[in-house]
Amino acid sequence: MVRILGLGGGLREGSYSLVALREALAVAAAAGAETRLSALHDLPLPLYRPDYGAPADYGPEAAGRIERLIAALRWADGMLWASPSYHGAVSGAMKNALDYVQFLANDRPAFLSGKVVGVIGAGSGTIGAVNVVAQLAQIAHALRALVVPLQVPITGAAKAFDGGRLTDPQIRRRLEGLATELVALAAARRATAD
Ligand SMILES: Cc1cc2nc3c(=O)[nH]c(=O)nc-3n(C[C@H](O)[C@H](O)[C@H](O)COP(=O)(O)O)c2cc1C
Repeated sequence: MVRILGLGGGLREGSYSLVALREALAVAAAAGAETRLSALHDLPLPLYRPDYGAPADYGPEAAGRIERLIAALRWADGMLWASPSYHGAVSGAMKNALDYVQFLANDRPAFLSGKVVGVIGAGSGTIGAVNVVAQLAQIAHALRALVVPLQVPITGAAKAFDGGRLTDPQIRRRLEGLATELVALAAARRATAD
């Protein structure tokens, strides 16, 4: 079974990017993937510190959360990353979470090599979410992952959701396309690695 990790979402109650992430993960599960969710709302992480060599350096409480994140990153064949747009860019919380991939620097293969990443952004305006997906794709490339070509920026986000529900059919179709492609690509990469 292909393993897909959902990572991100906003810290806001009712975060649209988190709703979109859950929707896409459900599609991945329906396509036959085993899924896990690391919602940053429920995973408060300290700021990444390059001079700390081990999760334990962050203290006992944070160490467990960091270890769970690192284990989930290693576990995944593919990931869905979702972030709100803050000031035209990926949220600080999301970038900080991704900085912990540094703990995979000495893995073989290193970082996110061999893994596939699909990206989602949400913003209230017309540009922020587009920037977010482009930035998440750049980060994924820097971490040596393959990026699903179909990216899902959710602009004018409030119009696409009704409370905690995604109501925009076009966004839903794009999320379905993203998750379906992600599962297929992750399965293909895993088959060549086995
Ligand atoms: C501090 C802050 C900065 C924001 N900056 C932008 C922005 O530059 N562009 C944009 O489209 N939306 C911006 N927004 C709106 C959020 O992207 C929007 O509320 C989105 O739904 C947040 O994602 P979430 O629902 O997952 O929390 C900003 C919101 C906050 C709180």
